[in-house]
Amino acid sequence: MNKIAGVFDSGVGGLTVVRTLLEHNIFDKIIYFGDTARVPYGNKDKNTIIRYSLEAVEFFENFDIDIIIVACNTVSVFALKQMQKSSKVPVIGVVEAGVDMASKKVISKTSKILTIGTKGTIQSKIYDTKLKLLGFTNTISIATPLFVPIVEQELENTPILQETMNYYFNGLENIEYVILGCTHFPIISKQIATYFDSATTIQSGEAIVETLKKKFKYKKAKNLSKIEFYASDAPAQLKIRAKSWLLEKYF
Ligand code: DGL
Repeated sequence: MNKIAGVFDSGVGGLTVVRTLLEHNIFDKIIYFGDTARVPYGNKDKNTIIRYSLEAVEFFENFDIDIIIVACNTVSVFALKQMQKSSKVPVIGVVEAGVDMASKKVISKTSKILTIGTKGTIQSKIYDTKLKLLGFTNTISIATPLFVPIVEQELENTPILQETMNYYFNGLENIEYVILGCTHFPIISKQIATYFDSATTIQSGEAIVETLKKKFKYKKAKNLSKIEFYASDAPAQLKIRAKSWLLEKYF
């Protein structure tokens, strides 16, 4: 039987999750929906994020999908429960998966872990709280919302990124692990890792694949995954971006 996933993000960031899903060929088909008309979600009110996310659940009702993957940390923090309640298919988010991945990758309970994400995700303290419960003692987190428009506007190879990293990360030392608590950030993961002297990054895509395999027992799909793109604004633009980030053979 074909396995079809609906993948949702506020914009293009969820494509980083899709890329990992495609590399592991877990689904026969992926339906991607980016709410590009209303990105960013990261500094919006909780109720607004819930309202937009429930609209995404409604959107996916038009397709015969098996699961919804919330490829957005902000939505996973604020709207996952509501989405699970209103959806007929399972809905999984990236936060729980990211914390599980961190607990596997981080070698020592005293390793210095930095979590970065949107204002909403960081203010919720969700990563710090969950990591502390697992016994990690050396955690800090910083909201880095400017990285979102930098990625959305494809400014990752300009001095603007370096300046923004200097602004956010000034004074941080001995960071060993960086949890990329926003799905836009894997696009700039190399630059972030280099800034911290080859720190190890933890990304939502690899985390969700691990969760799908271990907890949901997903196996490799029979066919090479196909992907369809939908966006609330400029879908052609999203597709162009996807072409430069994903592997063309999936189109
Ligand atoms: N990609 C989203 C996340 O993982 C955030 C981008 C936004 O602010 O909408 O949180």
